[in-house]
Amino acid sequence: MQAAKDYSAARGKPAPASRSARARNSGSATEFSSEIEATLGEREFRFLAQLVYDTAGIVVGPHKRNMVFSRLVRRLRDLGLSTFPDYCAYVQSPEGADEMGSLINAMTTNLTRFFREDHHFEFLAEKALPFALAEARKEGKRRLRLWSAGCSSGEEPYSIAITLKNAVPDLAQWDAKILATDLDTQMVARARAGIYPEEVIAELPRARREGHFAPAPGEAGQMAASADLRRLIAFKPLNLLGDWPVKGPFDAIFCRNVMIYFDKPTKQRLVDRLTALLRPGGYLFVGHSETLLEHQSTLKLVGRTIYRRTA
Ligand SMILES: C[S@@+](CC[C@H](N)C(=O)[O-])C[C@H]1O[C@@H](n2cnc3c(N)ncnc32)[C@H](O)[C@@H]1O
Repeated sequence: MQAAKDYSAARGKPAPASRSARARNSGSATEFSSEIEATLGEREFRFLAQLVYDTAGIVVGPHKRNMVFSRLVRRLRDLGLSTFPDYCAYVQSPEGADEMGSLINAMTTNLTRFFREDHHFEFLAEKALPFALAEARKEGKRRLRLWSAGCSSGEEPYSIAITLKNAVPDLAQWDAKILATDLDTQMVARARAGIYPEEVIAELPRARREGHFAPAPGEAGQMAASADLRRLIAFKPLNLLGDWPVKGPFDAIFCRNVMIYFDKPTKQRLVDRLTALLRPGGYLFVGHSETLLEHQSTLKLVGRTIYRRTA
């Protein structure tokens, strides 16, 4: 793909000021949606898809046009914009500097859950952590480092933290840290807050919830992750395509259900960079539909979607 061109320049006029769609429109929401849809032309769709690819490496094919429309139409309404050309100009304008997160959000999914693909957490407790602890002891360091890359709203890093607390009885004596990052700053803020609906936490087995969550003060029906869990995790916004101000080596990296959006070269570069940050013998956990066949020389498949750095 080529780099996204300046949208307003391509249109031959300066970025238009936003108009209030709500004020202009007196018809029903459905009528209004189809009116807006008509303004999502080929040029606008291609511009937005290119911008998202350039910024986040996310490939948005033409078959996603309807999805993009239905997800963005609400965003346009919230912003008081009545056409997609207005929106394209807005994302490039100084006022729209913070819009990239929402745009990318509309093109991807933040879907996640506690202990998603539970076999990964079993493997972490039974194989990856004992290995990391033994290596650290050999080196005379009590240091453990894990990374949840693409952490969404935090369920993944909290699941790692709970596994760590349950599997390492003397964890307090270790310098243990979980780095949790996501491109989407709103997701990072939610993850950092660590507040989840009561019914979600109630579904976790007792050992994975007791002592790890408590009713969130002032928020009925919500549970908050314990201070102990939070202390273990450092939440940071980070674009996996950009620079990584992170310090390895990591004993394990979870990069799950993120690469599904990337094309092959982007995925390859990312896996190479992740592997370089793993300690030899460290583990890379990927999503259930992600395979890394090209990386067999440095990574060995050791379990279902679990890879190990061999050298
Ligand atoms: C489907 S969620 C996966 C969450 C979690 N890892 C899991 O498997 O349950 C994908 C996440 O990847 C993030 N993401 C997409 N592109 C990214 C990029 N270039 N850099 C960092 N995060 C990205 C999205 O914001 C989203 O929160």
